[in-house]
Amino acid sequence: MRLDRIIKGGNVVTPAGTFTGDVGIAGEKIVALGAELEAGPGTDVIDASGHHVLPGVLDVHVHLELPFCGTVSADDYRTGTRAGARGGVTTVIDFAIPYAGDSLSQAADNWLRKAEGKALIDYTFHICITRYAEHKPQIKGMVDRGFTTFKEFMIYESEGWQSDDRALFGTLEQMREHGTMLLVHAESARVLDELIARHHTPELMTRYGARLHPMTRPNFVEAEAIQRAVQWSEATGGQLYIVHLSTAEGTDIIRAAQARGVPVLAETCAQYLVLDDSVFEGKDGHLFACCPQVKKPKDVERLWKGLHDGEVSVVSTDTCTFTREQKAMWDGDWTKIPMGLPGLETLLPLVYTHGVLGGRITLDELAMKLSTNPARIMGLYPRKGAIMVGADADLAIIHPNASRTVSPSTMETNADWSPYEGWELAGFARTTLSRGEVIVDGYKVVGREGRGQWLPRTSAGLEAFQASRPEPIPEAPAPKPRAAAAGAR
Ligand code: URP
Ligand code: ZN
Ligand code: ZN
Repeated sequence: MRLDRIIKGGNVVTPAGTFTGDVGIAGEKIVALGAELEAGPGTDVIDASGHHVLPGVLDVHVHLELPFCGTVSADDYRTGTRAGARGGVTTVIDFAIPYAGDSLSQAADNWLRKAEGKALIDYTFHICITRYAEHKPQIKGMVDRGFTTFKEFMIYESEGWQSDDRALFGTLEQMREHGTMLLVHAESARVLDELIARHHTPELMTRYGARLHPMTRPNFVEAEAIQRAVQWSEATGGQLYIVHLSTAEGTDIIRAAQARGVPVLAETCAQYLVLDDSVFEGKDGHLFACCPQVKKPKDVERLWKGLHDGEVSVVSTDTCTFTREQKAMWDGDWTKIPMGLPGLETLLPLVYTHGVLGGRITLDELAMKLSTNPARIMGLYPRKGAIMVGADADLAIIHPNASRTVSPSTMETNADWSPYEGWELAGFARTTLSRGEVIVDGYKVVGREGRGQWLPRTSAGLEAFQASRPEPIPEAPAPKPRAAAAGAR
């Protein structure tokens, strides 16, 4: 077989285990896995010896160029996808949110326009339902257009995005009917409003500053909302996916619901695994405001355990970048801080360094939570999410322990700060391939903007997840055996 490229001699992580050997690529696809693949005339050989070869990462929760909190998030499809590529990300899923009066289809068109000509890596969108009565009849049309995941926010009334219980219940019924999935931002709107109103005084703002952000969002704000969304999923049988899970209590609720057969899945984000709310104490504490906010060390530990035990299936970033100047809009009032963090560039390095090198998860688990599970759950598997014959040749090649210092000045993101500034992280991509093309080489982005493609889908959720259990790969030479993935792990 003629090979355009061979990735040679790496520690190749596949769903069936890890082996030392080669990945053969023809055109955009992986066509061979083996111990000593043969190069023909014109085959480009990339040396991966002494490196891990991982499936490209899918960051299934990003917001690029999002109008939000009175400004527009600072990473667009150009800088956001370049940042992702440098962190081994080869697919992003953003959220198409209808502007006032827009239909779901117009929202998708708006987001397609943002991506076209700029995206370096492949992409698609979750479609946000912000006016249920009007948008409900449009859901089927969006499924026919290739969108199988939808989103509702239980907060953000002032943005015009908030959904009430009627909308959640009715949309979950629709998800069941169409075999699609509803992503939910779960926080308890009215209790949150009340806690914010009680604290919104000049005295308290002078005294506590940005610490009021975590003070007004105790864990029960997330837990109650997750409980309610789970209730509606249980009642309707509609597939639910809780985004950016941040609390121990929420994780316990998900675990219990899954155990009794509720079709609910959950993701957490890298920031909830490595930061806690002590970050709000510093001079620049306001920079760290995201929604939901980072929680306590006990929540961090529970989320890692949830990843390992299986109730948390995915790690994403919720990338929503704001510069120091944008964050300065708060001017001492925490309710005015543009909420969100940069994340695409550091997802793989953070989870690799703090998860794998930190002894909390294995390399196989990392590939599962960053690539294979997101692809399976979002209806992109087997095209994306695993190193196997027939899949897109989306790969991230990382050194097992060489670290780099996080510094905004050397990063692709438009952020002029980083929550992880000065941290030593391993796991930045030495080489990233997207559909067979080298887009990061020697830690530098070399790919052409605009080459990224929109990815149509036909499925999503637990059914897609369970139907796509990875098979052992016969082509792989003597993979190290490991227990087959079970349940929603
Ligand atoms: O702080 C965040 N997460 N900003 C983006 C909007 C959201 O809730 O995901
Ligand atoms: Zn959210
Ligand atoms: Zn988000």
